Amino acid sequence: MGVKKGQELTVEVTDLAFGGRGLVRVDGMAVFVDQAVPGDRVLARVVRKKRRYAEARTIEVLEPSADRVKAPCPYSGTCGGCKWQFLSYDRQLAYKRQQVSGALRHIGLMDGVPVHTTLPSERIFGYRNKMEFSCSDRRWLLREELENKEISRDFALGLHVPGTFHKVLDTRACLLQPEAGNRILDNVREKMKTSGLPPYGLRSHEGFWRFLVLRHSVAKDRWLVNLVTAGEETGVLTTMAGELMEEHSEIVAVVNNVTARKAAVAFGEYEVPLAGANCLVDRIGRHHFGISANSFFQTNTRGAERLYGVVRDYAALKGTETVFDLYSGIGTIAIHLAEACRRVVGLEIVESAVSDAVDNCRRNGIDNCRFVQGDIAESLSGIRERPDLLVIDPPRAGMHKKVLRLILELNVDRIVYVSCNPGTLARDLGVLAEQYAVREVQPVDMFPHTYHIEAVARLERRRG
Ligand SMILES: C[S@@+](CC[C@H](N)C(=O)[O-])C[C@H]1O[C@@H](n2cnc3c(N)ncnc32)[C@H](O)[C@@H]1O
Repeated sequence: MGVKKGQELTVEVTDLAFGGRGLVRVDGMAVFVDQAVPGDRVLARVVRKKRRYAEARTIEVLEPSADRVKAPCPYSGTCGGCKWQFLSYDRQLAYKRQQVSGALRHIGLMDGVPVHTTLPSERIFGYRNKMEFSCSDRRWLLREELENKEISRDFALGLHVPGTFHKVLDTRACLLQPEAGNRILDNVREKMKTSGLPPYGLRSHEGFWRFLVLRHSVAKDRWLVNLVTAGEETGVLTTMAGELMEEHSEIVAVVNNVTARKAAVAFGEYEVPLAGANCLVDRIGRHHFGISANSFFQTNTRGAERLYGVVRDYAALKGTETVFDLYSGIGTIAIHLAEACRRVVGLEIVESAVSDAVDNCRRNGIDNCRFVQGDIAESLSGIRERPDLLVIDPPRAGMHKKVLRLILELNVDRIVYVSCNPGTLARDLGVLAEQYAVREVQPVDMFPHTYHIEAVARLERRRG
């Protein structure tokens, strides 16, 4: 008997698949079960059926795995912000390591690479320094809210139901951000609702309020508020910014990103400063960094310190080396390595990130880094210096094939590869394995309660 869409199954989950879902075999077919982990016996409904596999959603946990804990957040199970709150932190760390070594074996086709125990996050709640909340003209209700007729359904500011673009919860508080962020979130919600301007319709593409982005400096305990809107309303926004600065002494900057694009990205075509400064300053280790509304910065500041510590150890610099920092962002890795080597050349596509990197070097009194702006696929071959070490930290999609070829042509002895996606890490290491041995991999948990994991790999060129 085959598995059918809509069918309800009672299953005992035996394994964990990529992406953090439970896995079980039913009549020989792999069934991925959302919101379930090994050891759970659940009632699940099949929501998708393909030729080789099916996907199911947990309806009820009949017998919980011994690894389950009570999730402290009321949105757990409905919200896509974090999906593993119900799993003990020790287990999360073990599964993350398993995801990295599984990817190396199955995607990279590499056996025997030592994958160390996951380094934990110092904080497992309140660790995120950046949160993006979406606005919607239709609020998605929790199961227990469905009967409550008092709840108005025409406004939401919050996080999405996983895998959906239009189902937005009205998130009153998110445990992943520090408490002050929740007070700001609540206040902004009230101000948006009473502003007389409509929230953006995610289907109609009409309306004004699009996103609220909050950024936090851990070192200074200060906040940047970014109001992302579909147009300009200088009067309303300036008044609101002034009130927010007055009502929350921890806010030091309020900016407005304006975007007319339909794509659901909390990024403006241009930015209007509204009140206070236009960036935050945070610290990783002993270095300070300026962070503007749209620049990339690791979302777990204390975790970043740990991550860059691993990068520094794996780089094992002696002081004479030229290092290329590929995908250098605002220069955080370059600056962490600069004092231990002769020079660093950073390569980065985003113009504002490059100018932030230059400012950050100045801020930290570092004068042996330079940054080249452009797509690495084009810029890498134009650099005159010869590197002794490559540090590579690409986005989730990993490296373009052309960049991988260019890297193989560079003939460097050592590479340190930092990745936030075990799948693309394994794929890229599989290509580099033509010339390099992967000596070790260190997973670092930057994202507690999600299945995401950062990992650092140390590669050495094969001899002979
Ligand atoms: C994961 S971030 C790493 C940033 C930095 N290493 C850090 O730790 O903060 C990836 C960076 O790659 C940049 N990027 C993405 N595609 C690129 C490309 N084709 N060429 C150069 N840089 C690129 C992004 O703008 C982003 O700053």
